[in-house]
Amino acid sequence: MKKILYMAQSANGYIALPDDETPWTDSEWAEYEKKVQEVGNIIIGRRTYDRLTPEGFISIGSPDVVVVTTKDLTPKFPKTHAAHSIEDACAHLSSKGYNECFIGGGSQLNKSALEADLIDEIFLDIEPKIFGKGLPLFAESDINLDLELITIRQTGQNTMQLHWRVLHK
Ligand SMILES: NC(=O)c1ccc[n+]([C@@H]2O[C@H](COP(=O)([O-])OP(=O)(O)OC[C@H]3O[C@@H](n4cnc5c(N)ncnc54)[C@H](OP(=O)(O)O)[C@@H]3O)[C@@H](O)[C@H]2O)c1
Repeated sequence: MKKILYMAQSANGYIALPDDETPWTDSEWAEYEKKVQEVGNIIIGRRTYDRLTPEGFISIGSPDVVVVTTKDLTPKFPKTHAAHSIEDACAHLSSKGYNECFIGGGSQLNKSALEADLIDEIFLDIEPKIFGKGLPLFAESDINLDLELITIRQTGQNTMQLHWRVLHK
């Protein structure tokens, strides 16, 4: 299964403000929604799931949602599954016939996925914002990885998308 990390970030590398707000441009939300709809599933950390609203769930195409958590979860959307690791999340989606999965944050989940060598490609949308403080793309880690650039694309008037392949060691 191809595992794709897709994230929006400020020009200085933050994926959210300290209060968890993500004030992205309309064109960014449209790109993000289109990509989740295309893949049909999303793997997210429990904190990101807590922030997902019913409107947000519908706007991303009511995908299969897999929430990675160490705890029990009361699902709030019809197609929600709880997994205790990213490996289990991928296995669940694989068993449903998917050959691609969309890893959708946040920082802690991204770090876990990176450290487990579970990211094959990264789409990073660089938004026209600078946040003085915030949540980093990856929570702190000792990882040191190399990437290969696949494409650079302008996705909005002021937004750039970088698409990389992770060079697995
Ligand atoms: N810019 C973007 O594209 C984007 C996308 C998504 C989210 N965000 C932002 O990211 C922020 C949330 O990120 P976050 O780092 O605080 O939280 P997070 O990664 O969404 O969730 C963290 C939680 O996920 C679970 N988890 C993570 N890795 C795990 C593992 N390997 N095994 C088991 N459980 C695991 C744990 O849940 P339990 O505590 O339940 O065990 C952990 O507390 C929000 O501000 C959100 O708005 C931004």
